[in-house]
Amino acid sequence: MVSLLNIAFCSLLLISVSANDVSTAGLSSLPPFTAMFVFGDSLIDNGNNNYLFTLAKANYVPYGIDTSWGPTGRFSNGKMLVDLLGEFLGLPYLPSFAATQIQGRNITWGVNYASAAAGILDETGRHLGQRMTFTQQVQNFQTTINQLKATMDDMDLSQYLAKSLALVNHGSNDYINNYLLSALYSSSFLYDPTAFADILIKQYKTHILSLHDLGSK
Ligand SMILES: *[C@@H]1O[C@H](CO)[C@@H](O)[C@H](O)[C@H]1NC(C)=O
Repeated sequence: MVSLLNIAFCSLLLISVSANDVSTAGLSSLPPFTAMFVFGDSLIDNGNNNYLFTLAKANYVPYGIDTSWGPTGRFSNGKMLVDLLGEFLGLPYLPSFAATQIQGRNITWGVNYASAAAGILDETGRHLGQRMTFTQQVQNFQTTINQLKATMDDMDLSQYLAKSLALVNHGSNDYINNYLLSALYSSSFLYDPTAFADILIKQYKTHILSLHDLGSK
């Protein structure tokens, strides 16, 4: 199932660049992206959970010890996949959505909505405390779009969004902080693994289509 989700993730990445032949030429031939919008869990949360009441926080040492930044909320000693991908694409490090709201950080190059403990399902990770669920992350993307509307007209905005990269990494927590925690979650009593996987895929698809409807291509 985890690999299935990874396939789903990869296909989103490919959908967003489908006009270009990434399969043979590789990422280096990609056109410039106007921005990157990141949805996911602790693997790519860059500080959103700092602002939440949750056990799933990483804004203390030894997190960040191999960077000049120190602890930022990244669940990593160093840079994360999205930091490296952003560098590769020539984009600045993205602000976390929470920082754009509280500190007014610049959203022009994209925003990171990822939140540790979140999953595809809203209930996932709830025993750890607050988290921005995938549902919430999509709503937060809508908030960003509304803010962007103040800076460009509708035509420019739709072109900007169509040329931006949407990156999704969700699904691990639906297992480790839901299905496999039968003391706290009923999902493994209600569904066999195949049925649960079907639920995840259905929900995942709904969210991806929402991102598409909002303008991500
Ligand atoms: C954000 O950064 C962009 C690109 O550097 C710049 O053009 C824009 O004016 C900035 N917006 C704000 C609100 O600072």
